[in-house]
Amino acid sequence: MTTYFGNNKFKFGLFGINCSGGCVLSEAPERWNADWDDVVKLAQMADEAGVEFVLPIARWRGLGESFVWEKSFETFTQAAALGALTKNLGMFVTAHVPLITPAFAAKAIATIDHVTKGRAGLNIVCGWNADEFAMHGVTMDGDKRYEQGLDWYKVFMKLIGGGPDFDWDSEFYHFRNMTSNPLPVQKPHPPIMSAGSSSGGQAFAAQASDIMFTTMHNYDTTRDTVTRLRALAAEHGRRPDVYVQSLVVCRPTRKEAEEYYHYFAAEHADAESLAYFKRQKDATLAKSTRSGDAAADRATVARMRETGERYPGNFPGMNPIIGTPDDIVDEMTKMHGIGLNGCALVFLNYLNELPYFVQEAMPRLERAGLREKFVMPAGRGD
Ligand SMILES: Cc1cc2nc3c(=O)[nH]c(=O)nc-3n(C[C@H](O)[C@H](O)[C@H](O)COP(=O)(O)O)c2cc1C
Repeated sequence: MTTYFGNNKFKFGLFGINCSGGCVLSEAPERWNADWDDVVKLAQMADEAGVEFVLPIARWRGLGESFVWEKSFETFTQAAALGALTKNLGMFVTAHVPLITPAFAAKAIATIDHVTKGRAGLNIVCGWNADEFAMHGVTMDGDKRYEQGLDWYKVFMKLIGGGPDFDWDSEFYHFRNMTSNPLPVQKPHPPIMSAGSSSGGQAFAAQASDIMFTTMHNYDTTRDTVTRLRALAAEHGRRPDVYVQSLVVCRPTRKEAEEYYHYFAAEHADAESLAYFKRQKDATLAKSTRSGDAAADRATVARMRETGERYPGNFPGMNPIIGTPDDIVDEMTKMHGIGLNGCALVFLNYLNELPYFVQEAMPRLERAGLREKFVMPAGRGD
């Protein structure tokens, strides 16, 4: 387990709070609108509750014509702003490799790390939506995106490691006189995350990340995937944390939770967003993913074709955790039992849902030994 963001056995990030719609494909009227005042209020609430980090989504346009992701705050600037308004919450930023240079990322991450006294984190993504890249005049290469990502990562790490100026020549980049100052506060470096799920994405994450993501469909396959991902990373001398993304509905009774989930994710599902999402992802699959030689690639393709198994308002690959506070704890205990270190939490409307989760589920998670009672560390934000 990494020691980034403390020592809880099962850690939490808030996922997608910078985007309208958050990370739920729903047209329910109370869905997340990502108004700035709400984002701040939510971040401060999460900060006081001991949630480990915010994980925004880097987006440049919405899912087709949908409300979902139509509006999104940019992640580096948001992290600096929220970092100044919180005390302990980790602040991930998300960099699209083909759009952000390593020199910019190194300086921006260091800036956020200084603003927050060591709370910055970097999610490296290689992209999947060609429509967004076209906005920057950049063409996506589905086959090479993770090779470029690894090259980008090496330059970034060299920059934030300090040392003499250097040049870099590779298939992807020709950089001259590279240097960055200040360096990040966190040593050896701020945590790096990657959520690639194709075989190329997983190979990249195994070499570059402290936190990897996988998708969760059932305990057995997820346990196998976690074991496989750790083995892959071990080949590079690494032992990353492994997380999943979870959509949570927590209510006093299971019936209430299930009915609410059905209401927003089935009755009010945003089918057009889902269709756009699948179409765009399908179009950028690497040849190796299409040919499905590796288990990860077969799973990726299956996920794109997924029908019926979960409500359509539930993002493909996102694990729904629906039930009472005790159900939530049971589920998370099992997740921890198969080797997961935490999850990126999603709620339909974070501000409506987080207080009950904090009030009822968090103390039970402490009693179950998955988390410790949160006390704001002395000196934070004084
Ligand atoms: C937790 C999580 C966060 C992600 N954040 C972003 C993001 O901010 N921007 C983006 O373009 N893709 C994001 N992705 C998509 C991944 O980078 C990746 O493209 C996706 O998981 C599919 O894997 P593949 O690229 O190996 O096919 C995210 C995925 C997950 C699971």
